[in-house]
Amino acid sequence: MTDGGTSRVSGFERGGARKTAEALAYLTGFGNEHSSEAVPGALPDGRNSPQRAPLGLYAEQLSGTAFTEPRAHNRRSWLYRIRPSAAHPAFTRTANGAIRTAPFAETVPDPNRLRWSPLPEPLPGTDFLAGLWTLGGNGDATQRSGMAVHLYHANSSMERVFSDADGELLIVPERGGLLLHTEFGRLHVEPAHVALIPRGVRFRVELLDDSARGYVCENYGAPFRLPDLGPIGANGLANARDFRAPVAAYEEVEGPVEVVNKYCGNLWTATYDHSPLDVVAWHGNYVPYAYDLRRFNVIGTISYDHPDPSIFTVLTSPSDTPGLAGADFVVFAPRWLVGEDTFRPPYFHRNVMSEYMGLIEGAYDAKAEGFVPGGGSLHNMMSAHGPDRETFDRASAAELRPQRIDDGLAFMFETRWPIALTPDAARADHLQRDYDDVWRGLEPHFRTP
Ligand SMILES: [Fe+2]
Repeated sequence: MTDGGTSRVSGFERGGARKTAEALAYLTGFGNEHSSEAVPGALPDGRNSPQRAPLGLYAEQLSGTAFTEPRAHNRRSWLYRIRPSAAHPAFTRTANGAIRTAPFAETVPDPNRLRWSPLPEPLPGTDFLAGLWTLGGNGDATQRSGMAVHLYHANSSMERVFSDADGELLIVPERGGLLLHTEFGRLHVEPAHVALIPRGVRFRVELLDDSARGYVCENYGAPFRLPDLGPIGANGLANARDFRAPVAAYEEVEGPVEVVNKYCGNLWTATYDHSPLDVVAWHGNYVPYAYDLRRFNVIGTISYDHPDPSIFTVLTSPSDTPGLAGADFVVFAPRWLVGEDTFRPPYFHRNVMSEYMGLIEGAYDAKAEGFVPGGGSLHNMMSAHGPDRETFDRASAAELRPQRIDDGLAFMFETRWPIALTPDAARADHLQRDYDDVWRGLEPHFRTP
C-alpha cells in the first residue's frame, strides 16, 4: 500500500488516528466549486476529460442531480482516480442487518407520541454499518422522496467501504469522534458536529474512541441545501463559510476490499481487488462536508413570543412544493431567552409536519426528564405535544429575566410525511411505554373573572 495522504489505522492506533484527524486541512464553504489535488498536477487544466488525464489517472464524473437541473441546484464533481469506478466485480445480496428502507409498510403510522431510550450496547466488533438501526421513515427511496431515521452504535472501525445509492447520509454524532475516509478525502467530526455523505459516495468510518453513537438522517430527496433567509438578510443561521469539505486524499491498496452498496433498500456486496477510495484529485460541488453546530447563528425574539422552530433550520431538502420540506435538519443550540411576557419554552402545538427529535448533550428546555442524550422522540403529524407538566409549571411562574440556555444541544429531523416505524422500533425494549405520562397532571386552571 502506498500512503497518498491517508492510511488504514487499526484499533490500537486510535491515538494516532485522532492526531491525524485533528491535523486535517479543509476547504471551506457550502456548495462551492471546490478543487483539490493530493499530488500536484493531478487535476487537468482547463477541461474535465482530456484525451489522457494527468499522471495516468482516469477521469470520472459523479452526478448528484440530473444533468439538466437548474444551475443553482446542480451538483456534480469530477474525480481523477487510479481506477475508474466501473472496474468492479458483480455485487451480490448480503444481509440487511437492522437497516430498513422506505416504503415502510410493515407497521402503520402511529398517532401516539413516542420516545425511546438510547440503543443498547452493540456486540463486540460492530462497525458503523453493522451498528445502523432503522427507526422508521417515509416516502419511497426508489422515487427519491422521503427520508429515514437511523441510529448507530458501534465499537469497531470499518474495514469495509460503504456507499448509499438510496440517499445522502446526514450523520449526527452523539458520542465518540469519527474519522470519515471518503472518496474526496477525510473529515473529522465529534459530537456537536454533523457530517454529510452525498448519495453514492464511498466511505468508511474510523472510530476515534472506544465506541461511537449517534443519529443518521437518510435523505432520499433533493440534496440538503441551506435555507433561504428572506428578511433575515444575507447572513445568519448556518453560515456557508463554516462548512468544511475535505481536501483530496487517496489510498493505493492492492488486495481485497469489501465494498457494500445500499441499493433500493437492500445491501449488496462485492470484493474489489483495490480500494475505491483512490481519488487523487477532484473538482466540483458534489462533496461530503462537515459542520460544527456550535457555529450556528441562533436567531430569536428580542421582544415577545418566539419564532416557530423553523428559525433553527440548518439544512433543508425542499420538495416540489415551495416551503414544504421533504426533510429539515433543525438544531436547538445554546441561546439567550429574553422574550417579555412570553412562555419561553417551546409552546404546545400540533403540526402538519412530523418531528423526530434527538439529544446530543445535556437537556432540552421543554422536557424535564426522560429525553436523554442518545434517545429520541417522535411526534408524528398532528400529534399534540409540547412542554411536560413540570416544565410548564416552572416556566409559567418563572421570573422573566434574560436567561441563557446553554446546557443542551437538541436537534430535529422534520419531514412532510408521517414517519412509519420499523417493527424493531415499534417493539423495542428501549421504547418508553409511559411517555404519555409527561403530560399527565396538566390540570385546568380556567377561572371566570
Ligand atoms: Fe414539535
